[in-house]
Amino acid sequence: MEKVAIRHIQQKKATGKKITMLTAYDYFMAKLVDEAGIDAILIGDSLGMVILGYQSTTQVTMNDMIRHAMAVRRGAKRALIIGDMPYKSFDTSDKAVANARRFIKEAGCDAVKLEGESRRAASAIIKDGIPVLGHLGLTPQTASEFKVQGKDAESAKGILNASLGLEGTGCFAIVLECVPAKLAATITSKLSIPTIGIGAGPQCDGQVLVLNDILGLFDRFAPRFVKRYADLGDAAKKAIAAFKDDVETGKFPGSEHSFKMKKEELEKLKCE
Ligand code: KIV
Repeated sequence: MEKVAIRHIQQKKATGKKITMLTAYDYFMAKLVDEAGIDAILIGDSLGMVILGYQSTTQVTMNDMIRHAMAVRRGAKRALIIGDMPYKSFDTSDKAVANARRFIKEAGCDAVKLEGESRRAASAIIKDGIPVLGHLGLTPQTASEFKVQGKDAESAKGILNASLGLEGTGCFAIVLECVPAKLAATITSKLSIPTIGIGAGPQCDGQVLVLNDILGLFDRFAPRFVKRYADLGDAAKKAIAAFKDDVETGKFPGSEHSFKMKKEELEKLKCE
């Protein structure tokens, strides 16, 4: 079981094999994702919405991210682990480097992800020896509206140029979120580093989704690009309701869930 490294992710583009990435936020889920053989785990700042119950990802702090990244690291032995730099954690180069170092040193991440065209921050982090995953297209930390990006030639060109710019700074791959499939295909063909799509069509070099979305563990909204592979939320609700019913009707706990005491000890207890 060889640990996935950046070079493995990049080799996949060269050999035409698809890269798989999912988010995870805790030990147990990271272990499941790792054991399923997914290439890379992203501790996304989607943490804020799907785990912490915040209204938006902009409320997520570095301390939130580090605590969850540490748990993911404990659960995942094989996958490449990427920490997502939260809102305003990379608005100056010094801050970007200091926070990226926290992901590596405190949480044991292998790389960090930056949203937007933050070439200066990306470049400073890469110069510090930390691999960076870019993220373009829809960037929720700064988006005023959650809609497909790059639908007209001018904005599409902007995303293409920004992708080339991030490649130039030394990013090892780029996430493309919510862009037309043909634009993602064009960017993928023009870059030598891999593209990892989310709502960006089938021709990206890999795909990433939010784990809670694919497992049916998040119901506040469902973007069109999500495919739900299980309804664990519904299964969990049924299990919880069954527990409640068993307790209320005296079916739980049964003798198989209870502990025995020797008869003579019980007699002594009664005499006291
Ligand atoms: O925060 C996140 O989960 C992400 C992915 C959706 C790419 O940035």
